[in-house]
Order: sequence, then C-alpha cells, then structure tokens
Amino acid sequence: MAELLRVNNLVTQFKTESGLVKAVDGISYYIDEQEIIGLVGESGCGKSVSQLSVMQLISAPGEIAGGEVIFEGQNLLNYHANGPEMRSIRGAKIAMIFQEPMTSLNPVLTLGRQLTEMLQLHLKMNDDAARKRAVELMSMVGIPSAESRIDDYPHHFSGGMRQRIMIAMSLSCNPKIIIADEPTTSLDVTTQAQLMELMKDMVERFHTSLVIVTHNLGVVARYAQRIYIMYAGRIVESGTIKDIFGTPRHPYTIGLLKCIPRLDEEEGTKLVPINGLPPNLINMPSTCAFLPRCSYRLDKCSREPWPPMTAIDGNHYIRCYADTKEK
Ligand SMILES: Nc1ncnc2c1ncn2[C@@H]1O[C@H](COP(=O)(O)OP(=O)(O)OP(=O)(O)O)[C@@H](O)[C@H]1O
Ligand SMILES: [Mg+2]
Repeated sequence: MAELLRVNNLVTQFKTESGLVKAVDGISYYIDEQEIIGLVGESGCGKSVSQLSVMQLISAPGEIAGGEVIFEGQNLLNYHANGPEMRSIRGAKIAMIFQEPMTSLNPVLTLGRQLTEMLQLHLKMNDDAARKRAVELMSMVGIPSAESRIDDYPHHFSGGMRQRIMIAMSLSCNPKIIIADEPTTSLDVTTQAQLMELMKDMVERFHTSLVIVTHNLGVVARYAQRIYIMYAGRIVESGTIKDIFGTPRHPYTIGLLKCIPRLDEEEGTKLVPINGLPPNLINMPSTCAFLPRCSYRLDKCSREPWPPMTAIDGNHYIRCYADTKEK
C-alpha cells in the first residue's frame, strides 16, 4: 500500500516559566494507506502533543519548532494553522477521536446538529441529505433507534455510546486517516474491547488508516500492524507487531512488555514494573533519556549522545547501544 502520511523530525515545545519543555523532540514515522499503527508510551511522553501537531492544534505557549508533516505530497506545516487548507484537512481528511468525548462534543447541541454540521460544512450536503447520512452513521456505529435519538443531547448517552458517536463523527467525511488518542481509557474493559472492534471494522469498511495512541501495549496488540514506542519525546523502537512482541530489542519496550499479563506465561509469573520515573522534559540530557532506568546500560551509554534510530532487521529499528538480544 502507498504511503499516506510521513512525519519527519517533528519538534514541538512549550515555553514555560520553568524552561523549555521539549514535548516532542524529533520524531519521524509514517503510515500507509489502510494501515493501522500504534503509538505507545508512558503518560507524558509526547503522544498527544505529536498528534495534535500533525493536526496543527498546538496553541501558545506551545509551538511546532521544526520538522515536516507530509500528507498527499504537501508539507502541512507550511500551511497556516487556521488557514483554509488546514480547515479543509482537519476533521475531514484527517480526523481525531479524543480520550474524553464530553470535551469534544458540544453539550448544548443535539447530536444531529453536531453530525450534520460536519457533513454540511465539508461535504456541502443539504439539510435532508445530511440528516439521513447522520442517522446512517449512528446506526452503523451501533446506536439503537438512531432515527429517534438523533435529536438527543450528549448527556443522554452513556460514555461508551458517546464514544461510538465520536467514531461516527470521525468517519462522517470519509477521512483518509483517523487518529484515536486513548479513545477507550475512561471506559470499562468490555466496552473498550467492543469499541476497538468497532473501530477496526469501520476503518476496514471505509478504507481508512488508523493511528491508535495508547499507553497500553495490550490494546494495540490485536489491531495494529506496526508499532512505534515513544519515550521522553522520542521514538525509541519501531517495528511490526511480530518484531515488537516477538523480539523486542529496546530496554524500554522489554520493560513495557514485562508489565502486561500474557496468556502464554506460566501461572504465577510476576509482572515487573519499570523502576523509576520518566525524565523531566526540561533540561533533557544529551545521553539516552532511559539510561537512569535501564538495566542493560553500558559504559558507553553515559558517555555518548543518544544514538539515532538504527535498523536492526528489515523494518525493525531501535535507538539503543546495548545488545539486549544477548541477554
Ligand atoms: N500546554 C502545555 N504547557 C506545558 N507543557 C505541556 C503542555 N501540554 C503538554 N505539555 C507537556 O508535554 C509533554 C507531553 O504531553 P502529552 O500530552 O503529549 O503526553 P501523552 O504522552 O499524551 O500523555 P498521556 O498518556 O498522559 O496522555 C508532557 O510532559 C506535558 O507536561
Ligand atoms: Mg495524551
């Protein structure tokens, strides 16, 4: 499949009173047409900021300080964040589903209004066509009696239902890419699983690519074809599902995998948390940011700067000097 989006060396930072927060510090990744990728890392590592940067939804004191976001042959960062080009891409060609639907749905507007507005704005549909399509979309994502519920307000729906509506909304303009930023973390596990399945079915049906952003490797295991592991504003390992789960090579990825329960492990196997805390993103060292927490570290690691992403096998890359394969 052809490449759809490529991010090169993206840097996004926040000027705060305590100093410059390098939230995203030179990340590069790509997504192909109809591909599902996972972006995984601990809280605060820059996942959301990276995706908001792609959509140019960063506001002061934040700024995109460098890099490229190539989509359909154009660098989106050359466009003004509020200009007509970005407005025709945001929500229409690249849609985003946020963690907490109540913050993205307008509480004082009916769902019908919110769904039809998108269709009218981007697809220039008339009132009747937009309403018909909105009902179709609501049924498609599993809202029972959509026709009679379209005039309800967001608070009339449960959290899971609201997230289904967000999925419907994200699909409404037939986007090329959906970015789902922790779309299910606030929901119970059964609803989480149902929504992930729904999203997978929908992107297959609409031939859409999907970026799943999560702190939980387990969530992406079933759905993504490739995974990017992020740590302290950078990507530290990337590869196929088989690479990441079968032969993880970055010490951080290895640590993340030890934190999730596995069915293929002997009963009684203990989960091992990663010791220590992620670094402060102000005054980051030039050496590897994972060093203080790393059990594979070499003398070289505290002398040399953090290495670049290096291919170890096919499409499997790591940013690390230590040969974890040997251990
Ligand atoms: N407006 C802001 N001002 C200052 N720092 C910010 C701002 N927004 C984000 N940051 C910092 O940028 C870093 C990355 O934040 P981001 O929200 O991308 O993390 P995340 O990986 O999405 O975490 P989570 O899993 O908790 O959603 C964090 O250290 C955060 O404190
Ligand atoms: Mg986030």
